[in-house]
Amino acid sequence: MTNILVTGGAGYIGSHACKALKAAGYTPVTYDNLSTGWEQAVRYGPFEQGHLTDRDRLDQIFAAYQPEAILHFAALSQVGESMREPGLYWHNNVAGSLCLFQAAVQAGCLNVVFSSTCATYGDQDNVVLNETSPRHPINAYGASKRAIEDILRDFEAAYGLRHVIFRYFNVAGADPEAEVGEFHQPETHLIPLILDAIDGRRNALTIFGTDYDTPDGTCIRDYVHVMDLVDAHILGLKWVEDGKQSRVFNLGTGTGFSVREVIDRAEAITGKKAPVVEGLRRPGDCTKLVSGSTRAVTELGWSPERSTLDQMIGDAWRWHQTGHYDK
Ligand code: UFG
Repeated sequence: MTNILVTGGAGYIGSHACKALKAAGYTPVTYDNLSTGWEQAVRYGPFEQGHLTDRDRLDQIFAAYQPEAILHFAALSQVGESMREPGLYWHNNVAGSLCLFQAAVQAGCLNVVFSSTCATYGDQDNVVLNETSPRHPINAYGASKRAIEDILRDFEAAYGLRHVIFRYFNVAGADPEAEVGEFHQPETHLIPLILDAIDGRRNALTIFGTDYDTPDGTCIRDYVHVMDLVDAHILGLKWVEDGKQSRVFNLGTGTGFSVREVIDRAEAITGKKAPVVEGLRRPGDCTKLVSGSTRAVTELGWSPERSTLDQMIGDAWRWHQTGHYDK
């Protein structure tokens, strides 16, 4: 079986990707420092603990597993935290990715699928966000991902590092079989936070800003189901394996929902009320992030069928009620 190195394979998206890789006939080798991931989420292949910045460890891993490609998920990914502690983001995300790519080139592993973000675009009022839109991130998280995209461009030119860059919009939902799911400690993302408020695990959800220039005053995001997202990664992996030219793809559905709309749907689906508090804007938040591209559909053959708000919240709710990890 073909080994694929999955950095961040113990995390939310990485663990779902490992499940999809195994189903597609690959062996996912998880490399994760467990800073935000969970060893219990590594269920579909071997686990190797380590940091992205540990070059010796990476050299060992490449030698031991001879991976054909890397799916690079490992990153710090919280917008708010990145504004408070940008150094962490530049060190872990940028220096870490640089170390990973240098090790990959030395080992002759020249296929990369990289998790980037729509946060690279920043706040662009009334602009359709497609892959050629300018990248003007307004938070350190987005800036760190933009820098990694640039490293990939330069490493392709110099060393032939073929890559697919996926700019995710807001990833949500969980494995419908609830083997793996979204679980952060403390919780950080909107849908699990709403579900926590609904079932009393937290007192209330704070809406970060109600004075944005949107119809109901709250931020708008484009939510994509994690299972659809990882399907795209299998297609991206085949793209680089086939030796096609390196390419950037947005992964979003093109439909935006406000924070209030997400809360309303979660209440409807669970049949319970979410206690809500209106709070201040969170530094670094963009008003609206919605994909304006269908490139992934037309070129990759991606079909994000599960990315309805109802299915994402429904699958997240099922996981929320049954699954969790413990350190
Ligand atoms: N929000 C609240 N209250 C909360 C948490 C979030 O109102 O307690 C709001 C945020 O302000 C934002 C929306 O809900 O408007 C979504 O917030 P998340 O924290 O769930 O997600 P972000 O949009 O901040 O960021 C996520 C990922 C990033 C990714 C980005 C792309 O964390 O990795 O989506 O938009 F880049």
